[in-house]
Amino acid sequence: MAIISSVAARVISDSRGQSTVELTVTDDAGNLATASMPSGSSIGKYEAVMVDAEAAVNSINTVIAPGMLRVPLDSQANIDTRLQAFDPTPNREHIGVNSILGVSLAAARLMSQGMKIPLYHYIQSISGSPGFSLPTPMFNLINGGKHANNNLDFQEYMIMPTGLKTFHEKVEAGKKIFYALGSILHEVDSEVAIGYEGGYAPNLNTNEEGLGFLVQAIKAAGYVAGSDVVLGADIAASALPSTYSATVENYESLFENFPLYSLEDPFPEDDWEHWSELKKKLDTNTGANSRLLVGDDLFVGSQERLEKGMQQGAANAILIKINQAGTLTEILNCVNQARQLNCWHIVSHRSGETLDTFMSDLAIGTAAPFIKAGPPNDQAPERIVKYERIIEVEEELNVAAANKV
Ligand code: PGA
Ligand code: ZN
Repeated sequence: MAIISSVAARVISDSRGQSTVELTVTDDAGNLATASMPSGSSIGKYEAVMVDAEAAVNSINTVIAPGMLRVPLDSQANIDTRLQAFDPTPNREHIGVNSILGVSLAAARLMSQGMKIPLYHYIQSISGSPGFSLPTPMFNLINGGKHANNNLDFQEYMIMPTGLKTFHEKVEAGKKIFYALGSILHEVDSEVAIGYEGGYAPNLNTNEEGLGFLVQAIKAAGYVAGSDVVLGADIAASALPSTYSATVENYESLFENFPLYSLEDPFPEDDWEHWSELKKKLDTNTGANSRLLVGDDLFVGSQERLEKGMQQGAANAILIKINQAGTLTEILNCVNQARQLNCWHIVSHRSGETLDTFMSDLAIGTAAPFIKAGPPNDQAPERIVKYERIIEVEEELNVAAANKV
């Protein structure tokens, strides 16, 4: 059995030009695997703690690397138990989630290499997920809130090509709609800026107008809004300015006026009552669980908060961001719990990203119905690589299926 022969971390720049951690784990057979850490800008109050990148690199190289030396690469659970011991606090407030997570992810890659199976297959085999599946992308085409310097309060305006068949077709549609939207917005605002995630960041008259532009762009690109492609919005309510306050009725009217299918963080993380009230209204208006009500800052990937939220009927979907837990085992435990509670899980990037594509394999290996990784903007390689990884897997699975016949 292979053993860890080195762990070496360094500081790299993320897509926003901020410092983040990249590390490499090597085994005694000479195999190596790297992993790098994303970071958010609308950070939930209950999220795991991310420490300064330099401090994390220092902890990895001086504390974790010597502690993990010669540890056998025998199982994810054993590796992750050892990593958790470096900081047993639930929020990793001493050492930082960015000090331990990368080692867990790189070790997963090394173990999948050792087993000669793709990473998504390895994840599926240890996760208890019923099988693989390719997620439908939620493309964030318009950036607002804390992700842009424009006047929009809502953080993300998304399109979801739920009515199209293959992942490849979904990305093609996303690109066509993204570029159609660019032309439409240029007529409104000739100097339309680009936000943190690579989506457009226009100044508009109202927040709702952004959803209307998405519908126009879907039509302009030749698709049917409401059947081929539906809409999603992340309000990121915990990060809204105090001048903005939304009511249950405001959101009900968004669902009435637009082909809106998914709504994330409509209320702040402690406002359980309004979440439950909205969920009840939506179930009555549109049919039980026929829309996604997604907890991001509400749940922060915490099993305790997820359990409370599901008991209260506050939401029916959870966002899974890899850096909200310390290790892969904890991420998978949360996904499993969501599945047991009949809660959808959506694997998500962060606004600050790297070229790491672990999340794509995570989405496939846990059969996530959706993935949120930004716009399919060719100028945003840190987003594009996530989608390209899934296209690669789609081709791999097609070849395997063809060979079986
Ligand atoms: P963040 O945004 O990465 O800045 O937290 C993503 C989200 O809120 O979904
Ligand atoms: Zn969010």
